[in-house]
Amino acid sequence: MITDTQKSRLISSIRAIPDFPRKGILFRDVTTMLKQPELLALAVDETAGHYRDAGKAATGWPPSGKYSPSFTCNGMQIGPHMKMAEVIHLNYHLLPILSRFGLHLGFGEKTVEQLCQQQHLDVNFFLVIVNAYHDKNFFPQRHLKGFPLKLLISYLRKSHEYFLSVKIPHIRQLLIQLSSGGEITDTEPLRLIHGFFDAYCSELSDHIRREEEKVYPYAFLVEETFLAGTPDPQIILQIEEYSMEDYESEHDNVEDKLNDLQNIILKYLPPTLDMNLCHTLLTELFRLETDLNDHARIEDKVLVPKVKMMEKALLEKKGR
Ligand SMILES: [Fe+2]
Ligand SMILES: [Fe+2]
Repeated sequence: MITDTQKSRLISSIRAIPDFPRKGILFRDVTTMLKQPELLALAVDETAGHYRDAGKAATGWPPSGKYSPSFTCNGMQIGPHMKMAEVIHLNYHLLPILSRFGLHLGFGEKTVEQLCQQQHLDVNFFLVIVNAYHDKNFFPQRHLKGFPLKLLISYLRKSHEYFLSVKIPHIRQLLIQLSSGGEITDTEPLRLIHGFFDAYCSELSDHIRREEEKVYPYAFLVEETFLAGTPDPQIILQIEEYSMEDYESEHDNVEDKLNDLQNIILKYLPPTLDMNLCHTLLTELFRLETDLNDHARIEDKVLVPKVKMMEKALLEKKGR
């Protein structure tokens, strides 16, 4: 019998290409799954099992019937009628995303839609965000472009808060624990790791501060001017001085630097240290990297094109 984790891996391995070969069609590309021998074997076994059990009125995927991810026409794997507990069974990495939306444990039997209504959340916005995290090939730009900047930026700010107030202090705590336990004969690698981590944290803080103090207010200004219909010449001047194109070119990948830190831990940490703690630390660093990658993907693929589209319209209006 296939487990929930195997099922989730199988589903995630199938690439979804929206609007291919024509608009309105969500093309499911299984070649991404076929390239992974373990998953291919699992899919073959499950398919064979389906036909083997056909006489027993097998109902097909999902075999256990425990949850049924909805592959709807708008390309979402997680749908409004799925129970929230089932969403987490499908992908437990979504837990921190949920808390950014103010959704906490104790879901009971409530569906995604019911919980969103209870928290006064826009269910469609919630769904595109969780699906964008759940399926790396789900390209949210087309969907998210339809939402007001307020929703998008509020979500991005909450993610920043999570990185700085939850994730980074947690990793720092693990590092402190690591340095204070076990037999440490050579302190140099740990000193190096602490120094590297401190430098990384201040770089991440600078990155976030710049976005919150400069980029997001600028994006709001563009939206406000765009919606007003009659662009103020002063604001047009501002747009000409700083644009989303500038942000795009300076938007560095802070998550890349985490790679170096992971490498130092992987290659140079003395074996006398608490290895379980080292593994926890590394896992947290890898998770942070994935989370930062997803966050940057939403900034690059959604925020930037959305604001650029408004900038273009404003400059065209000025040219008339
Ligand atoms: Fe950001
Ligand atoms: Fe960023």
